[in-house]
Amino acid sequence: MKTEPRTAMTPPDWAPDSWQKKPAIQMAAYPDADALRTALGQLARLPPLVTSWEIENLKQQLSEVTRGQRFLLQGGDCSENFDDCESGAIAGKLKILLQMSLVLVQGAKKRVIRVGRIAGQYAKPRSADTETRGGITLPSYRGDMINRAGFSLPERTPDPALLLRAYERSALTINFIRALIEGGFADLHHPEYWELGFVAHSQHAAEYTRMVESIGESLRFMETLAGRVVADINRVDFFTSHEGLHLDYEQAQTRQVPHRAGWYNLSTHFPWIGERTRGLHGAHVEYFRGIVNPIAVKIGPTVTPDEALALAEALNPQNEPGRLTFTHRFGAANVEKCLPPLAEALRRQGKAILWCCDPMHGNTETTRNGIKTRRFDKILDELELSYRILRDCGTHLGGVHFELTGDNVTECIGGASGVTEADLARDYRTQLDPRLNYEQAMEMALLLSRLMAGHPQKESPNRGHPSSL
Ligand code: PEP
Ligand code: CO
Repeated sequence: MKTEPRTAMTPPDWAPDSWQKKPAIQMAAYPDADALRTALGQLARLPPLVTSWEIENLKQQLSEVTRGQRFLLQGGDCSENFDDCESGAIAGKLKILLQMSLVLVQGAKKRVIRVGRIAGQYAKPRSADTETRGGITLPSYRGDMINRAGFSLPERTPDPALLLRAYERSALTINFIRALIEGGFADLHHPEYWELGFVAHSQHAAEYTRMVESIGESLRFMETLAGRVVADINRVDFFTSHEGLHLDYEQAQTRQVPHRAGWYNLSTHFPWIGERTRGLHGAHVEYFRGIVNPIAVKIGPTVTPDEALALAEALNPQNEPGRLTFTHRFGAANVEKCLPPLAEALRRQGKAILWCCDPMHGNTETTRNGIKTRRFDKILDELELSYRILRDCGTHLGGVHFELTGDNVTECIGGASGVTEADLARDYRTQLDPRLNYEQAMEMALLLSRLMAGHPQKESPNRGHPSSL
């Protein structure tokens, strides 16, 4: 049988476990090594969650983003919980991402790749290894894949059985997503059913209404043309991603497949390295450099152009377009200082980088009452600034990465729906980072769509300063 052309070659000094010889940070300390080995052995025998051809398809689509032909929309929870593995929450997240993508298609006039932070986002980096409450110190909660959020020693002790549960919950989630997509979301094609009442409170209300009407018209036109529902003629692709933090888990799902070269991480399509674990000589970069999936690296304000170049060399030595995404998360206050030198250095060296803006993680703040939140306006500012900076540097913004949910939680402040600081306590559910709710996420998509359509953003009475766009 014909062998696929090799794109990314496996480095000769790499193996799925070669990361184990490197310093690994943010790893859980399991008290029972035998139980861990047994769980990983079981995990390594279970069938994969995604396939190599889906991964190759995504990489191809991401390479089109680097050429300006597509746009990447990535979003989901900061951290998934086992309890949220239920139909309403999963369908809600899929729906918001699909709706946002239709809005973005309208403005960008490009196809949009949809990637969920879903079906595997169960391990989290923490700033401290331990947490102290009332004089008691216990290991930090590191995500449902590792330990439990309750504050007792049995709950906080890393439990290898949770690795299998995480895999199973991921499988249940992806199974339901595939079924929903296969069936087509009927109301997705009828924007008149979308919950857009909040739009009336926006200064762009009329424009949004026109945009949504025109999405409906385009979909109806395609349906008429094809004589059947759009889901049947243009089945949407949907991909999964998670932070590849727990390297034992990732290694257990790293496989070779018939007729293709290289090693695939088959637990997700698009794993990423977090800001805390992107050290050039660390275990995470070692693991990621050898897998053939498209990968992303989160980069924050401390990254230098030399470091970014070294990461690009280590992770994408063949400069394959679509292989490497830099998900930058500098914060609205830092992006003008941090992004231009990086974008210029990488462009000068001819590096094929997909620039994806995560406007969430650099804009986190704590209110006077100790609640972690993010402001809609700062998120939007970072997006707009990134769009302009990258364009001025001779490249372009290829995608966006949000923490969001399909429910109307009150975790972030602002937006036309008017969530205030006082509202945060009303429906604040996240155990980790605050997410845009349904209305805020839709509004963000409408604003981004305007931006990509070339509409100047007007000065808004509730924004600190006029945007330069
Ligand atoms: C995250 O994406 O939830 C996260 C922890 O981000 P970062 O690695 O950018 O801090
Ligand atoms: Co987060």
